[in-house]
Amino acid sequence: MAHSTKKINLRDIALFSDLPDRVLEKLLKHMTTRTYPRATIIISEGERSGGLYFIHSGKVRIFVGDEEGRELVLRTQGIGEYFGEMSLFSEAPRSASVITIEETELSLISRPDFKDCLSENPEISYHLISMLSHRIRLLTDEMKNLSFLDVSSRLARVLLDQAINQDGKWIVKSITQQEIANMIGSSREMVSRSMRDLIKNDHISVDGNTITIKAKLPV
Ligand code: CMP
Repeated sequence: MAHSTKKINLRDIALFSDLPDRVLEKLLKHMTTRTYPRATIIISEGERSGGLYFIHSGKVRIFVGDEEGRELVLRTQGIGEYFGEMSLFSEAPRSASVITIEETELSLISRPDFKDCLSENPEISYHLISMLSHRIRLLTDEMKNLSFLDVSSRLARVLLDQAINQDGKWIVKSITQQEIANMIGSSREMVSRSMRDLIKNDHISVDGNTITIKAKLPV
């Protein structure tokens, strides 16, 4: 874990984008910035809140788990986004765990410092509320998908969401069947079965952990 020497630009964080320079400079003094290697647990579900994190580079995965070690991925987040706000406004413990999925630079502000910032700059609340309402909308979509779509349609949606264009081909890189299962609330076995169908019908091809989308997927 390395302390950053690079100058952090808080304006790249959507929450702060409209604040004047003097406020951002003051805020920066209350933050600690570090670079974390891949696969570092930043927050553990159930622990007490330690503050709010902002992502300057890299990516994190937000997930919940159960006693049997099963995991459900709630979301991945990247540059300009933030996490850890849910337990800031109540005495409730952290609602989910957060892990880095690549080297990631994060700034942390403590709960009391963020509360001061919020009362001095109430316009930030608007951003927070719109982000939380967007999240409820996403959760509604996910509940709808879980209730109404079968595993193969949910799999197709995740592949389309995750695909990047590389040399004219749509590919999903570095993803395991277990990770896909965690993203769609299914088992590795069900994902494996659905992937075999997609391969058989020439919708996708698979090479190690890389999936190439060859034809329109049946969503
Ligand atoms: P907090 O509960 O403090 O710590 C875990 C964080 O994960 C939480 O704040 C949110 O920032 C984030 N989080 C929890 N649930 C979701 C969700 N369903 N979608 C996106 N982010 C979430």
